Amino acid sequence: MSGICDGRVVVVTGAGRGLGRAHALAFAAEGARVVVNDLGVGLDGVPGPDSPARQVADEIRAAGGTALAHGGDIATPQGAASLVTTALETYGRLDTLVNNAGFLRDRMLVNLDEDDWDAVLRVHLKGHFLTLKHAASHWRAEAKAGRTPTARVVNTASGAGLLGSLGQGNYSAAKAGIVGLTLVAAAELARYGVQVNAIAPAARTRMTEHTFAATMAAPETGFDAMAPGNVSPLVVWLGSTASEGVTGRVFETEGGRITVMEGWRPGPTADTGRRRSPAEAGETARKLLAEAEPPGRVYGA
Ligand SMILES: NC(=O)c1ccc[n+]([C@@H]2O[C@H](COP(=O)([O-])OP(=O)(O)OC[C@H]3O[C@@H](n4cnc5c(N)ncnc54)[C@H](O)[C@@H]3O)[C@@H](O)[C@H]2O)c1
Repeated sequence: MSGICDGRVVVVTGAGRGLGRAHALAFAAEGARVVVNDLGVGLDGVPGPDSPARQVADEIRAAGGTALAHGGDIATPQGAASLVTTALETYGRLDTLVNNAGFLRDRMLVNLDEDDWDAVLRVHLKGHFLTLKHAASHWRAEAKAGRTPTARVVNTASGAGLLGSLGQGNYSAAKAGIVGLTLVAAAELARYGVQVNAIAPAARTRMTEHTFAATMAAPETGFDAMAPGNVSPLVVWLGSTASEGVTGRVFETEGGRITVMEGWRPGPTADTGRRRSPAEAGETARKLLAEAEPPGRVYGA
């Protein structure tokens, strides 16, 4: 197995199933040595009896690649730290971190328990922060020792975080947070040779195959657009040295489509140079809104 990731060591979180598994296989096929992380949780995040990470690592090795399973919880300091340490102790280096692990607890806001809020924010947002922090500490040390890396981080956001999604207040907030984290990390870590981007994917996995059954179904013939492996080529490219110069960007990707998402930027504006009354502020806001682009529709609304 060789290709654009020859010699690189790649960590993929939540790689026992779905998109993470597809990314791990695709990195290995391009020559990377892969640390396949997965805690092995149910759809709602409750840990199951076994981690599927080992099966994916076995699958990579059976195909002639190099991989190792890691069964830790990436949303704990110990799990995140041991994931980075495992890559360094086993393969002697870390080049790419793909943050992907997560689960859902969908409820309308009035029914959303604090536990559902905390669990989803924890796995997605904290789960991205902790691995990123440990990997970035290593890369900063490398840069300070005169060995500036060509490091890459690919985070996993979602259309829910970009536009909002009914019944997913916790998930949308977590994924929007991941976009903010990506922008800051890209700006802070550039000096250490680290590029940080995010994807907002769509694919048929256990997370989507029932809720969006019609959209996700595989066709009997022709291109299976919603197969998770269609998302992985962009992730592999972003995780390789070939993506030099691309950082702080968010891409939507599904099937054969890749879209650069253009984020918040100033629209119509007005400045009086003095404090307005509330009535004046409202008048100005309505005038500006009439000139502005309408917002994208919240998913499911
Ligand atoms: N499938 C889609 O269409 C879609 C759309 C937008 C975003 N996403 C995002 O893509 C990512 C992957 O989702 P998927 O659809 O492949 O789901 P999935 O359920 O198939 O895979 C997620 C994996 O993460 C693992 N995991 C969960 N918590 C973990 C933890 N604390 N530590 C380690 N592993 C953990 C699970 O065991 C599971 O194997 C998620 O971040 C999801 O929010 C998916």
